[in-house]
Amino acid sequence: MAVTGNITRYNLKQQPVMKTKKLTLNVVLFTAMSVGLLACSKDQAEKPQDPPPPKPDEVTAANVTYANFASNLFQTKCSGCHAPGGGGSGAWTFNGYASVQANAGRINNVTLVTMTMPRNGSLSAKEKELLKAWLDKGLPQ
Ligand code: HEC
Repeated sequence: MAVTGNITRYNLKQQPVMKTKKLTLNVVLFTAMSVGLLACSKDQAEKPQDPPPPKPDEVTAANVTYANFASNLFQTKCSGCHAPGGGGSGAWTFNGYASVQANAGRINNVTLVTMTMPRNGSLSAKEKELLKAWLDKGLPQ
């Protein structure tokens, strides 16, 4: 009986100590997290007006060229029909920069004025904006 009594007393003594330790640890962790959160929100609050950082490879009206935009547009949106043997090849054949340059006026007309091309779909606002900028700048390569 004496042994059992000792064990019980031992357990009763130990448990509250362990609980206190856990609680202390929780308080420390919680405090650390709160400080971290406050630091983050303070960081964001200090510069709310900052514009997003410019992506180095983003094509804009300012840097648009045949190589970074127009070539891909004509290939994906036009060459399905305007390639040798395609349905639109009688009107205009897309096979590189020279073929676009030679038909720039007509291309401008059908994509931006009458908007009849591409015949099976349409260009997005962004594509039209970049295409217009590219045509206006004199078709930079
Ligand atoms: C689904 C097939 C198809 C697609 C895609 C297409 N075209 Fe056409 N396109 C035609 C056909 C067919 C003609 C000739 C008949 C006509 O004028 O409607 C034509 C005619 C044209 C003409 C001559 C029109 C004229 O009267 O001056 C131009 C310029 C032109 N397309 C440009 C483009 C451009 C630029 C694209 C891509 C943005 C494009 N097309 C996409 C089928 C297509």
